[in-house]
Amino acid sequence: MTKKVAIFISGSGSNMVSLVNSMYRQNYAWPSLVLSNKTCASGLTKAKKFNIPSVCIEPKKASGLDLDFEAEIQRELKNYKIELICLAGFMRVLSNSFVDSWPGKILNIHPSLLPKYKGLNTHKRVLENGEKLTGCTVHEVTPELDSGRILGQATVPVLPNDTVETIRLRVLEKEHILYPRTLEQFCLGRSDLVTM
Ligand code: GAR
Repeated sequence: MTKKVAIFISGSGSNMVSLVNSMYRQNYAWPSLVLSNKTCASGLTKAKKFNIPSVCIEPKKASGLDLDFEAEIQRELKNYKIELICLAGFMRVLSNSFVDSWPGKILNIHPSLLPKYKGLNTHKRVLENGEKLTGCTVHEVTPELDSGRILGQATVPVLPNDTVETIRLRVLEKEHILYPRTLEQFCLGRSDLVTM
């Protein structure tokens, strides 16, 4: 049986689109729900075009623990019999108790070569530090931010005239290849690190 996957988004959902296309092509898992914490997320429209059930649950609190918000998410996950969660540009930190209730079942993509540049504004910090190499990482989600087991990593060069936007786009292009490839290996139970 293919695993039922929920994809969490907050914005344009381009990673969600590449995950869905890959699951449809390869059948290693099934995209069963797209969940956004922002009503304005344009990724929701893309999910509708795929005919994937989508929900938007907006937290009442701007940040920090919001038990009602997470309880509603859990209800939807149960409702759609979700077995695995892929965070794809989901810009809300989930509580420890939420993460602990899905042990080894939440993946995330982060736009840096973890463990370097955890958190926000990764490309800006990469540029400021004069890095020659950056990239993206797919990892398991644990209560500590951007710190779970690394499953896949792709490198991207930083070029002399790069801006935050040019790096963002070059990294995003790699994310669209790395995330599906890593998700497939994960669903097939293969534990080798995926590198690009
Ligand atoms: C991606 O670059 C992803 O790595 C990043 O948000 C973007 C979402 O783009 N995620 C984070 O920064 C998480 N800390 P998308 O909505 O087009 O997939």
